[in-house]
Amino acid sequence: MNTTFRNEPLLELRRGPVRNEALQALAALDARLPLEVPMLIGDDVVTGQVFASVDPSNPTTVVANAHAATAAHVHDAITAAERGQQVWSKRPTTERAAALSRAAGILRSRRFELAALAVREAGKPWAEADGDVAEAIDFLEYYAQNALVLDAGRPLVQMPGERNSMRYVPRGVTGVIAPWNFPLAIAAGMVSAALATGNAVVLKPAEQAPACAKAVVDALHAAGVPHDALALLPGGDEPGKALVADPRIHTIVFTGSVAAGLNILQTAHTMVPGQRHVKKVIAEMGGKNAIIVDSDADLDDVVPGLLKSAFGFAGQKCSAASRALIHRAVADELTERLAGALSTLRVGPAADFGTDVPPVIDIAAQQRIEGYIDSAAPLAQGDTRDDGFYVPPTLFAGLPTDHKIIQEEIFGPVLSLETVDSVEHACELVDAGGFALTGGLFSRSPRTIEHVSERTPVGNLYINREITGAMVGRQPFGGGRLSGTGPKAGGPDYLLQFVEARAVTENT
Ligand code: NAD
Ligand code: ALA
Repeated sequence: MNTTFRNEPLLELRRGPVRNEALQALAALDARLPLEVPMLIGDDVVTGQVFASVDPSNPTTVVANAHAATAAHVHDAITAAERGQQVWSKRPTTERAAALSRAAGILRSRRFELAALAVREAGKPWAEADGDVAEAIDFLEYYAQNALVLDAGRPLVQMPGERNSMRYVPRGVTGVIAPWNFPLAIAAGMVSAALATGNAVVLKPAEQAPACAKAVVDALHAAGVPHDALALLPGGDEPGKALVADPRIHTIVFTGSVAAGLNILQTAHTMVPGQRHVKKVIAEMGGKNAIIVDSDADLDDVVPGLLKSAFGFAGQKCSAASRALIHRAVADELTERLAGALSTLRVGPAADFGTDVPPVIDIAAQQRIEGYIDSAAPLAQGDTRDDGFYVPPTLFAGLPTDHKIIQEEIFGPVLSLETVDSVEHACELVDAGGFALTGGLFSRSPRTIEHVSERTPVGNLYINREITGAMVGRQPFGGGRLSGTGPKAGGPDYLLQFVEARAVTENT
C-alpha cells in the first residue's frame, strides 16, 4: 500500500466529458430509484418499519426506502459486533489497513455513481458531492496509513536493567452516529478510524441519508471487513439512543448538533449495571462561525470568500460562516457589494451544474430556517423556488448582538453583518460566543494575522480565504467549547481516541 498520503484529486467538473459522465451516472441512478436500505446485522439482512429519504430538490422523488432499527435490533447488532471484535481486533494492522485501502479503491471506482447519490439524497451540488466522495476516500487511506504509524509504537525512556515498551490496543465495540450533511465522508471517516484501530463498529447514520451510508458499508464489506465487525442500523434518534445507552459499547463517535451531542455525553457517562468501563465519547458538534474583515482587507477577495462560506451548500456545513464582523472603515462599501452579489447567486436543484445555492435537507429544516428569517427584517434576499425545500439566501445587518440570529446555529443560507470598531473588538465578539469551530480573517497586516491566530479560540482559522472545505491531512478539523471534544478528524492524533495504551516494564 502507499505510504505517502495525497488527497484524492477532485473531478474537473467544468469539462464537458466529465459533466457528461456525471449526468450518465445520475440517469443510471434515477433508473434504480428507490434504493433499498435494510439493516445489516452480522450476516443477516434485516427488514423493519420502512421510512423514506427523498430528493430535497424534488421531494416527490423517493431516493431510498430504509428499514428502521429498533432497540432490539441495536441489541442484536452489538451482540454480533462483540463476535466481530474478537476476530477483527486480532487481525494484523497491515491487514486491516489493506482492507480500508481496498475500500477506498472501491469508492474511487464508483466515483460518479456515489457523487450522483449524494446529489440526489442529500441535495449536494455536484462539486460538493464530488468533494464528499473524495473526502471519504481520503479518510479511508489516511487512517489506514496512520494506523500503521501508531502500530510502530512510540519510544520510551530506557534504563540499564529495564526494558520499557508501550503498545496501543483497540478500545472495543464502537457506536458511530453520523449526520446527513457529509453523508459519505463523515460516516466513512468515523467508521474507518474505529476499524483501522481494530474496533468493531455499529453505524447509525442520519435518517435523511441512509443510502449513502449503505454505500460506505458495502464498500468496506466488499473490501474484506467481516460482516460481524461492521453493522448498519438505519433510523432516527431511537436506535441512536439505544446504542449510546448499551453497556457493551466502549466508544461513541458522534457528529451532529450540540443538543444531541450533550444528550449523548450525559447518557454515555451514566453507569449501567454490568458496565465495567467508562465509555469514551468523541463528539464533533455545531458552529456559529465568524469571518473578521479588517480595514485593509482586499474586498475583491472578501466578497466571494464570504458568499462561498455562507451560502455554499445552502449554509448546511458546521464550518459555514454565519457572521461577518466588518471593520467600520469598509462596512458600508462591503455591505453594498454583498447585497448586490446576493442577487447573482443561482438558487436551484442540486443536479444543475450552475446552482450556487441548493435546497435545504428537509421540510423541518426549511421551516426552522424560515422561522429565523421571519424574526427580523432582512437587509437583502436572493431568489427562492417552491418546487423543493428552498430557502432564499438572506443577509441581515445591524442586529443586536444578543439576537438569536447572531447567537444560534441556523444551519441555513443566512449571514448577518456586524460593524466593529477594530479587529480586537471583533475578537472579543468571537470570544464571547459558546461555539469555537471555524473562523476567518481577511487582512493584509502580518501583525494582525499573528494576533488573531493567537487570540481566537476556534479550532480552524482560515486567513484570506473561505472557511469551509478542510482537507484530510492538511487541515485537521474540529473545534472546542460547545463545538466538540476536540479530536481533530483527519489529523495525526485522531486515532489515539480509539485505542488504549498498555505499557510493559521488564527487568532484564
Ligand atoms: P443531529 O444532531 O440532528 O443528528 C446527528 C445524528 O445523531 C443523527 O444520526 C441522529 O439520528 C442522531 N441523534 C440525534 N439525537 C440523538 C440522541 N439523543 N442520541 C443518539 N443519537 C442521536 O444533526 P444533523 O441535523 O444530522 O446534522 C447537523 C448538525 O451537525 C449541525 O449542528 C452541524 O453543525 C453538525 N455537524 C458538525 C460537524 C463537525 O465536524 N463539527 C460536521 C457536520 C455536522
Ligand atoms: N470538514 C468540513 C469542512 O471543513 C465540515 O467544511
